[in-house]
Amino acid sequence: MLGAGVHLSDRQFRTIAQLIEGQVGIKLPAGKRLMLEGRLHKRVRALNYSGLNEYVEHLFDNGLPDNELTHLIDVVTTNKTDFFREPAHFTFLKEVAVPALLKPRGRGSHGLKIWSAACSTGMEAYTTAMVLDDMTRSGTRFQFRILGTDISTAVLRLAKAAIYTRDVIAPVPAEFVKRYFLSSKDRSSNEVRVVPELRRLTNFMRMNLMDSSYPVDRDVDIIFCRNVLIYFDRQTQRKVVDQLCSHLRPGGYLLVGHSESMIHNTVPTLKQVQPTIFRV
Ligand SMILES: C[S@@+](CC[C@H](N)C(=O)[O-])C[C@H]1O[C@@H](n2cnc3c(N)ncnc32)[C@H](O)[C@@H]1O
Repeated sequence: MLGAGVHLSDRQFRTIAQLIEGQVGIKLPAGKRLMLEGRLHKRVRALNYSGLNEYVEHLFDNGLPDNELTHLIDVVTTNKTDFFREPAHFTFLKEVAVPALLKPRGRGSHGLKIWSAACSTGMEAYTTAMVLDDMTRSGTRFQFRILGTDISTAVLRLAKAAIYTRDVIAPVPAEFVKRYFLSSKDRSSNEVRVVPELRRLTNFMRMNLMDSSYPVDRDVDIIFCRNVLIYFDRQTQRKVVDQLCSHLRPGGYLLVGHSESMIHNTVPTLKQVQPTIFRV
């Protein structure tokens, strides 16, 4: 039997959807209601509440505690990611972007700055680290650092730990697996960890793309902002892309997801190099 607290009322759903859209930029259309209810039930159980009613009361009657907003954000964000996701981007990095960025004399010694904005569990950042480190071993001399940012603290914890299961690293070429991942001493474990040499070059921090300013350097060489703009409305997409571009050095690249190639329509200063690759 369905009791009170199993489902959200229309009003409760609308209130939470408005809160999320205002804070995170993500739209929660009516079709996402079941998903939201399902995910919130886990939180209800963790807090030992009787049902969703008690959870929603707690959420708003106490003036929305910061800590609960963080959990709510973890609950509603879609964190799907992969190593070597949209692999053409990494070929472009190696064959076009890095050589072009290193061309001005002396750039290599200063190092390249890469930013994975909306990095999820870090696979985009570590894929980039592997590809760039491999370039340095094949004779291209340069240094680099990678920053990963995301709004979800849950995924950032995983990104910092850099521990993944073997099935997840399936897209990583065998020679990279050998070079860049450590196996657990426990032979029955199917977990691997990114080597410290790459972890040292990679930092992660929490950042909301909806914020009015970003605490990030303004001379970034390459920004990945993939598979997150799609959740924002046009106006927010434009604002976010404008802000990201203001953190790129002249000639820097912005890479977006394959379903986000339309963003150049909103930002006239961007030059489209390929459908999902832009240059300022
Ligand atoms: C689908 S994942 C994409 C991960 C990775 N960029 C990729 O393409 O594989 C989207 C990520 O965007 C993050 N996100 C959603 N809204 C955000 C916001 N307002 N600010 C920062 N990150 C956000 C989510 O937490 C999630 O980890």
